[in-house]
Amino acid sequence: MPKNVCTCIRNICLVILILPAFAQDGSADFYKQNCASCHTIGGGRLTGPDLKDIHLRKDDAWIKKFITDPQAVINSGDPYARKIVDESRGIIMPKVGGLTPFIVESLLILIKQESEKEKSIFAGSAISDRPLTDADMEIGRELFLGTKALKNEGPSCMGCHTVAGEGILGGGRLGPDLTQVYGRLGGKTALAAWLSSPASETMVPIYKKHPIDESEVLPLVAFFKGKSAIHSQDTGKHDFNLMIFGFTGLAIVLVLFDFFWGNRLRSVRKAMEKG
Ligand code: HEC
Ligand code: HEC
Repeated sequence: MPKNVCTCIRNICLVILILPAFAQDGSADFYKQNCASCHTIGGGRLTGPDLKDIHLRKDDAWIKKFITDPQAVINSGDPYARKIVDESRGIIMPKVGGLTPFIVESLLILIKQESEKEKSIFAGSAISDRPLTDADMEIGRELFLGTKALKNEGPSCMGCHTVAGEGILGGGRLGPDLTQVYGRLGGKTALAAWLSSPASETMVPIYKKHPIDESEVLPLVAFFKGKSAIHSQDTGKHDFNLMIFGFTGLAIVLVLFDFFWGNRLRSVRKAMEKG
């Protein structure tokens, strides 16, 4: 009998000791898979804001409501939510699947604990920081066009997107033109993070099942970076051309004006002088 009691007490102790550790590990894994591509904790903004000290900016109830259903909080007209959406270039945090009140609670605890650390395990972005190469750019181009298949069998980007100077017929029109997306989404780290977990309502259902592989993210980033560089030179030239055309055009109009109106005025004057 006492032996049974002992085992029982031991088991209870084990559960008390292990459960919190388990919950924390679980929430760290959950965070890594579902949040880390958009949020660092103390490493600066990616697609979404840095979550360090979020609990000092907003109260727990608000944070939990926002994590559970961002769109609902934004739609409620909450001015703070509007502000953080604007700061995120209008990108709206997608509703994260698989959240329960327990998970949301433990995520909040995790974020608070990580905020207190000098360097959180989530201070860096998950994407490698190696430099982009010319080879990346070419691979990225092939992935975009679909001449090279995506590893996880997602559809090629060209089906829904255009980019200046690619494809005789251009690409699909469902998604926006991506020529300048590199700058629009905030450069290498932010775009890489965005691609590892696309925050697009249209793309989420597709690329959640067929994610863009880690090894494909930087090549795509390199491709977009190259495009935005070439294109901004293009527009520069284009504007200059327009300006030249503008001046030439204006000169031609003035000459013609002078020719026709000048003659008319002269003939009117002549007629008046005669009369
Ligand atoms: C695809 C990118 C993305 C993912 C994934 C994502 N978020 Fe967000 N999150 C955002 C953006 C963007 C904002 C800023 C508000 C907006 O624009 O919707 C935001 C805002 C927040 C805020 C408020 C931040 C502040 O400064 O007030 C919290 C808290 C938050 N997210 C937590 C989470 C948690 C926890 C997860 C994972 C369960 C998660 N987010 C997953 C993009 C994301
Ligand atoms: C089924 C159509 C579809 C496919 C395929 C697709 N996208 Fe998208 N994408 C969209 C739509 C639509 C949007 C605009 C946001 C929205 O409405 O969901 C978008 C938005 C984006 C954005 C953000 C643009 C911005 O200015 O905010 C990027 C970056 C992007 N897509 C990259 C890609 C890449 C890279 C691929 C290929 C790996 C790809 N997309 C494949 C439909 C698609």
